[in-house]
Amino acid sequence: MNRSRANLFLFQLIGFFFYFENIACADVQFSNCWKPEVRHCTVHSVKIDPCFQENGLATDPCELRRGVDNATLVMEYTTDFNTTDHVLQMAHKSEPIADIPLEGMDTEACHYTTCPIIAGERSTYTFPIEIKEVYPEGPYTIKWKLWNDGEAIKEACCLKFKIVLH
Ligand SMILES: *[C@@H]1O[C@H](CO)[C@@H](O)[C@H](O)[C@H]1NC(C)=O
Ligand SMILES: *[C@@H]1O[C@H](CO)[C@@H](O)[C@H](O)[C@H]1NC(C)=O
Repeated sequence: MNRSRANLFLFQLIGFFFYFENIACADVQFSNCWKPEVRHCTVHSVKIDPCFQENGLATDPCELRRGVDNATLVMEYTTDFNTTDHVLQMAHKSEPIADIPLEGMDTEACHYTTCPIIAGERSTYTFPIEIKEVYPEGPYTIKWKLWNDGEAIKEACCLKFKIVLH
């Protein structure tokens, strides 16, 4: 066995023993894309299910298995704006030079949260993420954005979180 195969084997072994009992649904550490002064959306929590965290700490990114895990992202948030029935969404892999959009994603956020979104009311957004085998392995910083159609900055929610694909 070469080194990377050995690592993969170890991960699978660890996964086998701890994955399911350890953490079914974990709170994930996230950051906001924008400073508080220019933010019009408060994200209360982000959960990913399943989520294997190396040390079981919320500061650990979720580790997900390609071709195996169909994960669910659940975000609780409150906007300070009302929306229409048409809220757009896009996720990017954040890179130092330019963010790369995750292709093939449904761009209608209203399929995953109740629309219209009402200012000041706590809302839940639930999105299924299929971790496809074709995705390259390694760490990702994901930038997730929802915005009221036509108002990409002033009426938007945007957050970033990390995941690791094996
Ligand atoms: C994950 O979900 C996709 C789309 O619903 C499905 O085709 C696939 O079989 C699922 N994969 C697993 C491992 O359950
Ligand atoms: C949102 O809509 C409600 C109900 O129509 C209205 O009372 C409220 O002022 C609106 N809030 C904002 C921030 O536009």
